[in-house]
Amino acid sequence: MIPRPSSVHLDEETFALDPEIRLSADPRLAGVAAWLRDAISLPLTPGEGGLRLAIDRSQPPDGYALSTAPAGIEISGGSAAGVFHGAQTLRQLLENGRLPRARIADAPRFRWRGVMLDVARHFMPVADVLRFVDLAAYHKLNVLHLHLTDDQGWRFEVPGWPRLTSVGARRSSTMQGARQHARYDDRPHGGFYTADDLRQIVAYAAERFVTVVPEVDMPGHMQAAIAAYPELGNGFAGGVRESWGISTHVLNVTDRALDFCRDVLTHVCSIFPTELIGIGGDECPVDEWAGAPDPAAVQPWFTALMAEHLASLGRRVYGWDELLSRGAPRDAVIAAWRGPAPTVAAARAGFSVVSCPDISCYLDYRQSDDPGEPTPVGTLLTLDDVYAFDPIPPGLTGEEAGRVIGAQVNVWTEHMESARRVDYMTYPRLCAFAEVVWGTRQPESFRARLESHLSRLAAMGVNFRPLTGPRPADARPGAPRQPRDLDDRLEELHEMTADLRKAGLV
Ligand code: ACM
Repeated sequence: MIPRPSSVHLDEETFALDPEIRLSADPRLAGVAAWLRDAISLPLTPGEGGLRLAIDRSQPPDGYALSTAPAGIEISGGSAAGVFHGAQTLRQLLENGRLPRARIADAPRFRWRGVMLDVARHFMPVADVLRFVDLAAYHKLNVLHLHLTDDQGWRFEVPGWPRLTSVGARRSSTMQGARQHARYDDRPHGGFYTADDLRQIVAYAAERFVTVVPEVDMPGHMQAAIAAYPELGNGFAGGVRESWGISTHVLNVTDRALDFCRDVLTHVCSIFPTELIGIGGDECPVDEWAGAPDPAAVQPWFTALMAEHLASLGRRVYGWDELLSRGAPRDAVIAAWRGPAPTVAAARAGFSVVSCPDISCYLDYRQSDDPGEPTPVGTLLTLDDVYAFDPIPPGLTGEEAGRVIGAQVNVWTEHMESARRVDYMTYPRLCAFAEVVWGTRQPESFRARLESHLSRLAAMGVNFRPLTGPRPADARPGAPRQPRDLDDRLEELHEMTADLRKAGLV
């Protein structure tokens, strides 16, 4: 099983699961029961003496106990989410209609077990997003951070701002491979979600106990919106960005631009029920604010206004770690990405923090040095490297470590033009991450468990990277590489986080 449960007793001997098995479930578990019926393709007609689903408040909130025997199967969880996790474990135990006799007690280490999906660089149709959520939930992750906008595309409708999608959701051409090679495909790319699409994603995720945390990146990474509404920018009159890298074309700070951001966030809050709303805040160059009395003060001022607006709607800021030196409100949750230092800085400064250092958690980074890897970029991040990741960096006190509410892997899609490609980069590394963040690592058994797990993923049609390396069809000829050296990247990260040292945060 992956992630491995905290405590497992399994018999070698298996028994056939009666396809006519009856189901009795607490009424609060009707949703879990309906999901399980579909997941294991059995009618599970109501009745006593077969499969029992129950809430047992003595279990940890997300935890569960599972027992299987020919006489009956029981899953009791501290909450409906706990029962759901137990049902996912049952699904993994079930093979060719047979179950082992088992007694399992299980609960996660972290409450934020996340994955970020970038649907801005490449749009992903709703059905593929639902499948992505389903697979994340299969691995007991519970947060989907949805990166909805960037320089290269705006991906959802906002009432009153139609050009965001008629203009901002398309680009005429897309860079192929790493920036240094300056290659383009000269083919249009685009797509966006309606409010109903997003509601469908939220509802589907909720049925799987996955919270969708939306992100609208601001005030940088905004070129697509500025291409749609030039009055939001600082004189930029170009289109949606076709190349990778960071645009210097950022929002201006007129009332119109502030009202735009407030409108967008109000709309986002009407769709996404989560308390945390992502406002990005990463990589915002100040070049275009050179006329301001203090360009460095602009983003902190802007962040405070957006935080105030979200607070008026009963929400809180989720933002990248640049916000630590750029006006993060006290109740913000920080996504710490620029190497391990910002996790330490955020926790020491008293913020709740989600650990996602690029060198351990960025699934766009290359999986091996095999020349057949598709567009190898970033530092080497093998399956074993992900498995070795500890969300809590060394040197934190117990109290500081307690502020690390979890971790997430981030799937940036510059070099992933399809769901198949996303599968390849995400799996099996997400399997390793799931065990890290559930907190039950057992390196001695991981490889063997993964091998049988991969046959389940193959049966589900997941285009994971084989443990033996890329297949010829996984290559991306014409989209050239730019692999990075870890030492160089660590040096670069040191320079990139000078703001944290200047602010006395590390
Ligand atoms: C990021 O990678 N710019 C958050």
